[in-house]
Amino acid sequence: MSFSAIVVAAGSGLRAGPGAPKTWRLLARRPVARWSVEALAAAGAREILVIVAPEMRLEAETALQGLSAVKFASGGATRAASVQAGLAALSAAPEGEIVLVHDAARPFLSASHISRLLAALDHADGAVLALPLADTLKRDDSGHLATPDREGLWRAQTPQAFNLGALRRAYAAWDFETEPTDDAQVVAGFGGRVALIPGDPLLFKLTYPEDFAMAEHLAGAARQVRTGQGFDAHRWGPGDSVWLCGVRIDHDQSLIGHSDADAGLHALTDALLGALGAGDIGEHFPPTDPQWRGASSDRFLAHAGALISERGGAILNVDVTLICERPKIRPYRDAMRARLAEILGLSADQVSVKATTTEGMGFTGRQEGLAAQAIATIELPR
Ligand code: CTP
Ligand code: MG
Repeated sequence: MSFSAIVVAAGSGLRAGPGAPKTWRLLARRPVARWSVEALAAAGAREILVIVAPEMRLEAETALQGLSAVKFASGGATRAASVQAGLAALSAAPEGEIVLVHDAARPFLSASHISRLLAALDHADGAVLALPLADTLKRDDSGHLATPDREGLWRAQTPQAFNLGALRRAYAAWDFETEPTDDAQVVAGFGGRVALIPGDPLLFKLTYPEDFAMAEHLAGAARQVRTGQGFDAHRWGPGDSVWLCGVRIDHDQSLIGHSDADAGLHALTDALLGALGAGDIGEHFPPTDPQWRGASSDRFLAHAGALISERGGAILNVDVTLICERPKIRPYRDAMRARLAEILGLSADQVSVKATTTEGMGFTGRQEGLAAQAIATIELPR
């Protein structure tokens, strides 16, 4: 079933207090809006139109980098105006297209919310996720406390799903004497049938400052921490320099290998691939492929880092141990940490490089070769 999405993120987030508008703040190191846009992309949205305030456009493009179905349009002064801007900017849609309208301020969108909404449209013009009211309601009538009946009342969430044609016609007919606060109101106001389907407390909207603390808590629970390890060794041969952890060191020998034989980078690349469960370096860059002959191993490591980003993950820390009698590593250690941090987009304190000898024992001790081992800890969405 083809569907597109309009994600409204053009509000100024006044109730969330000072700071950047709430949709572009970080939640577990990912911008708030990126959470739901990634879920929509993973569910196969044909196009995701993100509606942003013009002054936040660059920020938004950076926040949503690498998500291919995403397009941007400028929002209006009200939520309804922002939705209308989205409807106008959607590219020509296939016949019978469904559109999901979603508040970027509701980060915890999942595939099952989306599939339940799409399924509900078989028998309706629109579908809304909603929760029954659980608390007793109060209204302060100038000092007299009234208790309005909550029977039959629901809290509407987003996404809300509509047949695109029905939503467009309803907005075109809305007189705007009253400002609609969601889209189901507009479609129902035009006589459309909108189905209520069970909502989810996780789809709460970040509105007040304290909502962010709760979201951080939930975001932590939605992440998994994983570890991978890697090992590599190369043989010493004739030469005048050696590459280790992306740094060139003058030396009276070189390491022999198909690429630049940087065992530190290779071990670390394998550690990251291991944490992802994504095979090993040889699978991604076969030594039989001539294009990797003499290649700088920076790109192998950068590739592993990019695979983690594509999965919405992040590297927490990496630690490399080089095992050799010579050259002495200590003078180069800070340069190696800086280079690894640069390749992976980390800060230097997330990167460790250590070295040891094996006191003359084994192949490293006999100086037949150099070995490296690495460990990496990453986090991924569950
Ligand atoms: N929104 C929008 N354009 C507007 C107003 C709101 O795109 N002119 C979006 C918000 O970015 C948010 C969603 O509509 O994702 C729900 O609105 P709300 O929670 O009210 O967000 P804000 O208007 O940003 O916050 P506040 O009302 O506290 O200022
Ligand atoms: Mg608002």
